[in-house]
Amino acid sequence: AELMNRIPVIWINIQDCDGNTEALIRSSAPTVDELILDYISLEYQETLMAAAGDQAEKCLEDAVKEFKGKYLLFVEGSIPVKMEYAFTTGRHPETGVERVKRLAKDAAAVIAVGACASFGGIPAAHPNPTGAVGVMDVVKGKPIVNIPACPANPANIVGVLLHYVMTGSLPELDSLLRPKFAFGYRIHDNCERRAHFDAGEFVEEWGDEGAKNNFCLYKMGCKGPFTFNNCSIIRYNDGTNWPIGVGRGCIGCSEPDFWDKYATERPV
Ligand code: SF4
Ligand code: F3S
Repeated sequence: AELMNRIPVIWINIQDCDGNTEALIRSSAPTVDELILDYISLEYQETLMAAAGDQAEKCLEDAVKEFKGKYLLFVEGSIPVKMEYAFTTGRHPETGVERVKRLAKDAAAVIAVGACASFGGIPAAHPNPTGAVGVMDVVKGKPIVNIPACPANPANIVGVLLHYVMTGSLPELDSLLRPKFAFGYRIHDNCERRAHFDAGEFVEEWGDEGAKNNFCLYKMGCKGPFTFNNCSIIRYNDGTNWPIGVGRGCIGCSEPDFWDKYATERPV
């Protein structure tokens, strides 16, 4: 059913593993085909589009002209500012920085999807050979939304998109430009192991009795007390499970510099 005008979406990938696209195509409410057919008009997406090569690039350029000022630009992947020509597909010679800036110029807003596009992610980990940065370090003067995590939760991608489709505006954001509806709580505030934390019951060693009884993972390096995200409420893969649910601590994947700062087994 045609409920409203479908919002034109251009989705580009820079330095990434495509994990956020993989997560999105597992969205269940709505499914990705409902999303594409009923709510948005997906003009360009390297993984999902039928076109390839010059034909694909033509779709992109046509969409930029036709929907100037109206399309949402989704960016997946970090932007290499030191190895400018690397890790980018598309119109050569155009660097990743140039591609993001050019396509952001005529967008209504830019949505950075995943840890890499938001804050540089794993490519930005020390010693960051490619000079990886997030979208907000490159694009200025445009509304930007960050949907971090590795990968971004499809529920949060769809949440931002549908909020825009329904209201014509972006959701309320925190100081790191993350939507508050998704990143307004700490993992630790809603963790299913929280009662064990409060009772002082901790896993002390992998595979010990505490691990078998789903005790708190704080002493094994869980960064849930420092991490803002809603995976402790909505989980991943259609509610199937999430990191702490499978018995390892949170590594803070929705926070800036998470790999260097949080992805260790040491408590902070
Ligand atoms: Fe907090 Fe992590 Fe323990 Fe959960 S497992 S209660 S998030 S420290
Ligand atoms: Fe990421 Fe921690 Fe959730 S590692 S997926 S924010 S439990």
